[in-house]
Amino acid sequence: MKTLVLVFHPNISASRVNRRWVEEMEKQDNVTVHRVYEAYPDEQIDVAAEQSLLEQHDRIVLQFPFYWYSTPSLLKKWEDQVFAYGWAHGSKGDKLHGKELLLAVTVGAGEEYYSSNGTFKYTVQELLRPLQATSNLIGTRYLTPYTVYGASRMADEQLEPSAKEYVAYVLKPEIAPLADR
Ligand SMILES: Cc1cc2nc3c(=O)[nH]c(=O)nc-3n(C[C@H](O)[C@H](O)[C@H](O)COP(=O)(O)O)c2cc1C
Repeated sequence: MKTLVLVFHPNISASRVNRRWVEEMEKQDNVTVHRVYEAYPDEQIDVAAEQSLLEQHDRIVLQFPFYWYSTPSLLKKWEDQVFAYGWAHGSKGDKLHGKELLLAVTVGAGEEYYSSNGTFKYTVQELLRPLQATSNLIGTRYLTPYTVYGASRMADEQLEPSAKEYVAYVLKPEIAPLADR
């Protein structure tokens, strides 16, 4: 199993959680870590290079901090361009069929905010549905997302165990898919 971790953090040097996660992931065998914001400081994505990277891996991880109940903007642009018609979808667009797609998200607020009774009204899994719908369209298996809550206030002593737990999850040979409902 070859795993590709695509990291979308607009300011990794100021990050605490994602930076620690990336550093730990970069020590692993059979994992390619690609820091997308750093690869494209001008945000001009090399679509062919991204598609080639995706084709060479079996498990695709999208790692990002939760921004405005969604993804950082470059990830949206990356989807718009990389998941092209005739490549990722459409009658001949089968290049990602059968691969696994896993979201790994650091959520700033605590989990109690994300429920029908909570301040933000929706769960993070509900808010991530557009990516689940995308996964259905491109024919990937949508694995149960890895989410860490309270990331904005994570204690220093939690950073190391959090990175280790994240890596252990991503490297599990079997991760349950998330049902559509
Ligand atoms: C522009 C911006 C938007 C954010 N939007 C949300 C949000 O909608 N919900 C939330 O829980 N946290 C939000 N946050 C907090 C981030 O999710 C949090 O800072 C991040 O996950 C921490 O990871 P890091 O240490 O790797 O940066 C936002 C932060 C920024 C800078």
